[in-house]
Amino acid sequence: LILILDFGGQYNQLIARRVREHNVYCEVVPYKITIEEIKEKNPSGIIFTGGPASVYGEKAPKCNEEIFQLGIPILGICYGGQLMAEVLGGKVNRAKNKEYGKTQLKISEASLLFKDIPQDSICWMSHTDFIESPPMGFKITASTEDCPVAAMENPDRGLYAVQFHPEVEHTEGGREILRNFLYNVCGCKGNWTMENYIEEEVASIRQLVGNKKVLCALSGGVDSSVAAVLVHKAIGDNLTCIFVDHGLLRKNEGDWVEDMFKNKFKINFIRVNASLRFIGKLSGVADPEKKRKIIGEEFIRLFEEEANKLGEIDYLVQGTLYPDIIESGTDTASVIKSHHNVGGLPEDMEFQLIEPFKYLFKDEVREVGTELGLPEEIVWRQPFPGPGLAVRVLGEITEEKLTIVREADAIVRDEIKRAGLDRGIWQYFAVLPGIMTVGVMGDERTYAHTVAIRAITSSDAMTADWARIPYDVLERMSRRIVNEVEGVNRIVYDITSKPPATVEWE
Ligand code: XMP
Repeated sequence: LILILDFGGQYNQLIARRVREHNVYCEVVPYKITIEEIKEKNPSGIIFTGGPASVYGEKAPKCNEEIFQLGIPILGICYGGQLMAEVLGGKVNRAKNKEYGKTQLKISEASLLFKDIPQDSICWMSHTDFIESPPMGFKITASTEDCPVAAMENPDRGLYAVQFHPEVEHTEGGREILRNFLYNVCGCKGNWTMENYIEEEVASIRQLVGNKKVLCALSGGVDSSVAAVLVHKAIGDNLTCIFVDHGLLRKNEGDWVEDMFKNKFKINFIRVNASLRFIGKLSGVADPEKKRKIIGEEFIRLFEEEANKLGEIDYLVQGTLYPDIIESGTDTASVIKSHHNVGGLPEDMEFQLIEPFKYLFKDEVREVGTELGLPEEIVWRQPFPGPGLAVRVLGEITEEKLTIVREADAIVRDEIKRAGLDRGIWQYFAVLPGIMTVGVMGDERTYAHTVAIRAITSSDAMTADWARIPYDVLERMSRRIVNEVEGVNRIVYDITSKPPATVEWE
């Protein structure tokens, strides 16, 4: 185990992911963690993250000085490195020349940390303070033009600090530096693999559940799907999945999900076909927030009705991911996601939770899914909002409008896939704004719907850029939608990023 002490830097989760890429398990913990808690966790090494504060500032987040006496190797990154310097008696000051971005790094001394790294390379810097002079007993091992102490260390005590960010891709030797720290300094073995994870998780779920009953709300999304298959592997028929089909899914999606879980994975699978009920409740409602609310409430009601029919249920499976836990558990994190998931289940349901992925990142869940034999279509599925096509048919929903957006969406997805763009684009779909325009088809005047194509690149959907889909791909989408989908005579392409727009139109 490697402990990552979170000082509020923007790359904290990235550090964790990089550590795990070396098959080493790590946990991100608040910097306030006590010495006792650290001892209890007994890590092989500790990493201090970067952070926005100045170590000499009044409210600077500090660690307990005792941490340096534990005999556990520590790597301080950026703020973390400055903190190590300051606490141990070195000097940290405001840099005359701040460094941002790619910077030339010169290694000046042999170091375990820089094993196999060329003497001259590029590193990624982002700092306003710098270490002016290292503490007693430390030697300087690397520098840049404006930064005399780009790296320092006291190898006898296992203490290392770097001013640059080895976790960022632009640091050329970053991967190796982290690897050197993990393997050569901390002595990690690198046995954290998804294969082992599945084995351990299956055993522990099996032991926890025994012969009790477990329920899973399956949406067909990556997290709930992989969770269902994993839990099924552990407890077989003691798991039941409920799939609420609200009729707002994409073309053939409901049947496809049902076929896969029921027939391929042989999981107890209940599909609640409730499209009429949802459409009925949504009839006459045009306000986006009201639509979301109605769908959310109805979803919960249906889920509860179904769960009640099953009698006594002890556990509920949830696909919670590690970033959610990190973000809710540390007071240094500045980004807070608004969880507007339709799958958000009522608080008064009395289940205990099984959260098999609460220590995994999304890419690890994908790996687990692949290991468990889930098809690419699920493992690499693009995010799809809980309220489904309801937020892509603007204003009031009708069957006719749903059909148009569903068919158009299928064409958009098909063309993206055929062009080999499906992994590079975060989300891509069709929207029905409800605008009617005049057109001409076969010498006849038409008055029909406009369809908008929305495609974005992003890494977390918090911010996004509109995707530069090649013109010829857009052209094929446009031609096919107008030709194949009845009731459409015009296609437009959404070229707004987020912010100022959002990903979905409602
Ligand atoms: P927005 O439109 O807020 O979307 O920029 C950000 C991301 O969240 C998805 N999204 C939702 N997901 N329930 C969900 O589970 C929702 O109600 C919902 N609304 C938006 C959206 O597809 C994008 O990935």
